[in-house]
Amino acid sequence: MQKQNILNYVDSHVESFLDDLKAGLRIPSISSDPEHKPDMAKMADLLSGRMNSLGFQKVQTIPTPGHPAVYGEWLHQPGKPTLLIYGHYDVQPVDPVELWTSPPFEPDTRGKKLYARGAVDDKGQVYMHLAAISAWLKSENKLPLNVKIVLEGEEEVGSEHFEELVKTHRELLASDYILISDTPMLQKGLPGITYGLRGLAYLQLDVRGSSADLHSGSFGGIVANPLNALTKMLAALKDDSGHVTVPGFYDDVVEISAEEHANIARLPFDETNFAESIGAPVLSGEEGFTRLEQLWARPTLDINGIWGGYQGPGAKTVIPAEAHAKLSCRLVPNQDWRKISDQVASFLKSIAPESVDVTVTAMHGGRGYLAGIDSPSIQAAKSALAEGFATEAVLIREGGSIPIVPMLAETLDAEVLLVGFGLPDQNAHAPDENLDLENFHMGIRSLVILYHKLSEIKQV
Ligand code: BES
Ligand code: ZN
Repeated sequence: MQKQNILNYVDSHVESFLDDLKAGLRIPSISSDPEHKPDMAKMADLLSGRMNSLGFQKVQTIPTPGHPAVYGEWLHQPGKPTLLIYGHYDVQPVDPVELWTSPPFEPDTRGKKLYARGAVDDKGQVYMHLAAISAWLKSENKLPLNVKIVLEGEEEVGSEHFEELVKTHRELLASDYILISDTPMLQKGLPGITYGLRGLAYLQLDVRGSSADLHSGSFGGIVANPLNALTKMLAALKDDSGHVTVPGFYDDVVEISAEEHANIARLPFDETNFAESIGAPVLSGEEGFTRLEQLWARPTLDINGIWGGYQGPGAKTVIPAEAHAKLSCRLVPNQDWRKISDQVASFLKSIAPESVDVTVTAMHGGRGYLAGIDSPSIQAAKSALAEGFATEAVLIREGGSIPIVPMLAETLDAEVLLVGFGLPDQNAHAPDENLDLENFHMGIRSLVILYHKLSEIKQV
């Protein structure tokens, strides 16, 4: 392999790789919003077009009852392993849109960052793979191993239909390694391999009192207020030490081993800087664990939104008829999101006052993921990242979720490798989401090398 040639190709084509990405970023592929269904199809078309132009075969848009997935393959290295690259082309909504410095679907370069919804989560990282593949094919006329790409359109809404797709297309997706770039690095300049993700259980709580809003003078004091009831119930979910009080919540949690505790303690994490970077006065979490442990290896529960009652200008003396909240638990591997959802629902119902009607709906969820850290593929990723970023890579876990990961690994009986190039201040899911342009460049270089390193692992 003429590695230097390929890397030179990357270096001299970064601008055109960025132009490709920008074309993808201009399409508002928000999976949760039915109004954007046509944009989902547009985005899928753009990606399949790109795969065709790379010379991939069997390029297809695979329909699902929700949004389609895009697939393509290049399988001209018999005897070499097969790599499946998974990514997602859907993005989160953009609200509050007034807080964006530039419009979310008009990619804008400011300083060394490219701003747009999806810039890093996950279009930016998907296009890094397409760029690395293009560099290989343009300069070597081949890839070092067999490559399949599958890009999902529903990751941000819980991969509802993708599971079924994976089951029915098991043969098509069959592979030795699954490579996913959809995670951040611990900090700028410190490339990492993520060996653990948290799971998720997402719920909605609806509390109903009277059949219509009531005058708070005529009724206040003799009728329950759903907002008071809801906030009291929510407040009971956690104690002052940051423990979740739901009975059974911690039953299946795997404790952090002494070895892992020591490994995590060796990673750089500056609490004051971190708090400052997110504009928080101080950090806060479950007592008895370090911050990275709280974030990566401990489950938690958060209220994501509360609504009900009067929210307009001025004052309105009213007892609302109903109150609502969305809440979610980040889970650790071995916790079952359905069981946790049931436990949270039962607990909320058990503490609900009789004076209101309470409904708890489990909306969606996913399992956490934990991989071994000694596999040859992790070694390959470590050395590829060390070369690509000219610095030692670290092993990290993450607090976020990619619910499909454990299912993909099991169904395809393949190792998952999470090598992401985001940064903690990338504003994923928030206004001014951005991609670090140096990471884009070094990430593509690392992927070029990683494909090669993976191709050299002896298959057993
Ligand atoms: N890219 C993220 C996953 C992620 C975020 C990994 C932060 C590590 C750190 C992914 O696109 C995502 O946002 N997933 C959702 C899944 C949910 C909607 C089921 C998440 O974690 O909220
Ligand atoms: Zn996301």
